[in-house]
Amino acid sequence: MKKIFVIDDDKSIRDSFNIHLKDKGYDVKIASSAIAALEILNSYNPDLIISDIRMEGMTGLELLEKLKERNENYCVILISAYEDMESTISAMQAGAFDYIKKPIDIHELDLTIQKAFKHIKLNQKLNHLSHEASEPFKLNRIIGKDKKIIDNFKTIGMLSNNNATVLITGESGTGKELIAKAIHYNSKSKDNPFIAINCTSFSESILESELFGHVKGAFTGAISDKKGKFELAQNGTIFLDEIGDTTLNFQSKLLRVLQEKEFYKVGGDYPLKLNARVIAATNRSLTDFVKDEKFREDLYYRLKVMEIHVPSLRERKDDIPIIAEYILNKIKHELHKELTFSGSNVTDYLMQQQWKGNIRELENMLMRAAILSKSNFITVENLKSCIEENSHQPSQPVDLSLDNIEKLHIIKILESTNWNKTKTCEILKISKPRLDRKIKDYQINK
Ligand SMILES: Nc1ncnc2c1ncn2[C@@H]1O[C@H](COP(=O)(O)OP(=O)(O)OP(=O)(O)O)[C@@H](O)[C@H]1O
Ligand SMILES: [Mg+2]
Repeated sequence: MKKIFVIDDDKSIRDSFNIHLKDKGYDVKIASSAIAALEILNSYNPDLIISDIRMEGMTGLELLEKLKERNENYCVILISAYEDMESTISAMQAGAFDYIKKPIDIHELDLTIQKAFKHIKLNQKLNHLSHEASEPFKLNRIIGKDKKIIDNFKTIGMLSNNNATVLITGESGTGKELIAKAIHYNSKSKDNPFIAINCTSFSESILESELFGHVKGAFTGAISDKKGKFELAQNGTIFLDEIGDTTLNFQSKLLRVLQEKEFYKVGGDYPLKLNARVIAATNRSLTDFVKDEKFREDLYYRLKVMEIHVPSLRERKDDIPIIAEYILNKIKHELHKELTFSGSNVTDYLMQQQWKGNIRELENMLMRAAILSKSNFITVENLKSCIEENSHQPSQPVDLSLDNIEKLHIIKILESTNWNKTKTCEILKISKPRLDRKIKDYQINK
C-alpha cells in the first residue's frame, strides 16, 4: 500500500485528509508540526509527503529544505491558505513536487497525488537506468576494508561534485587506474568519455600530438587534422598514466595547459578549451624526482590539488583474502571453471608473500595457478610452483626493489638480444625512447 504522510497544524484539515486518503486506499500517517514530522521520519519512510506551509515553530518550506538535505528523492507536495507568489516560487525552487492552495479542491488534490506517484515511478526507473550506465565500472570493483582504502573511497566521494585535478600515487599494480575510473564513474561527468593515455608509450613529439592533436601538414606524415585526447575527453576525464616518466620539456607544455586551461593543436594557430578533468598517476616518488630535478616542482603542485595514495598490498595484508576471493571469482567466470581455494592455509600462504607487484601480481599468479591446476582446487603447492616459474633468478637477488628487478630484467633481455634495442623493445613491449630512458636512469652500460 502506498504511504502518504500529512503534516498540518489544523486538526480539521488533518482529519479530513486522513478520511479522504484512507478511502482512496492509501496508508496514511499524520503529524501536527514540522518538528514532530522530522522526528517521525527518523523511523518512517513514506512514499509521498503533503505539508502545510504556514505552521508554528518550523514552516513547511524549512521542513522541505531539511528533508532534501536528508534525501534528495523525497517527494513533497506543499499546501497553503495564502496565494502568495513568493512562497510558491520558493517552494518549487526548494524542490517541492507541486504546490496547491487551500481551500483544497479534492479533485485537484487527487490529480496531483496521482501525478506525484507517476513521477516517483519514473524517477525510480531513471535511477535504475543510470545505475546500469555505470555498470562497466561495477565490474571493476575496488575491493578493500583497510582504513587507507576506505580513506581513498572518501576522497573519491569528495571529488564527485567538483572537477579538481588529481594525482594518484602508489606502487605498480596497486589499482591506480581503477581509482581513476572510480573518480570518473562516480562524478557528474560519468556519461562523458574517460580517456587514458600511458605517457611512456610514445616519444615526446608523438605524445604531444596524441594529447593535443595536430593540424594537417604540421609535420611529415600529418596528412589530415587529428583530434587529440584532450579534445576527445570533452567534459569527461583524461587519465595521464606514468606522468613521472615524462621529459622536462613535455612537463613544461603540460603545465602551461593546466594553467591556461587551453591548448593548441600541434601546428594549430588558435587555442582549444580544456574542459576535461585531469587525473595523473605515477609509481615514482615525485618528491624525490623534484629533488633530483627530473620533475618540475610547479607541475607537481599543479597536479596534486588532490592527492590519492594507493597503499601497497603489503601495507594492507588483511585485505589479501577478500581480494584473492574476488579475483578467483573473476577467473572462474573467465575460464568457465569451478574453482576454490583448497583451505585456509592457502590464504595464510598468500598473506605471507611480499607482492612487490601488488594486486596485478596476485591476479597473474592466481590466473596461472588456475590454468595449471588439474582439479578445481587451488592448493599451496600450485601457488608455490607458479611463484618459482615466475622467478627469473634461481636465487633471490639481494636488492628486491621493483626498480632493481626491472633493471636486472632489462639487462637480461639486452644480453639475450645481443644489445639489439629494437628486439629488446619488442620483447619488453615498450617504446625505444622509454627503453633509452630506462637505460639512462638505471645507468646500464654495455
Ligand atoms: N582493490 C582492488 N580490488 C580488486 N582488484 C583490484 C584492486 N586494485 C586493483 N585491482 C586489479 O589489479 C590490476 C591492476 O590495477 P591497475 O591497473 O589499476 O593498477 P595500477 O596501479 O594502475 O598499475 P601500474 O602502476 O602497473 O599501471 C587490475 O586488473 C585491477 O582490476
Ligand atoms: Mg596503471
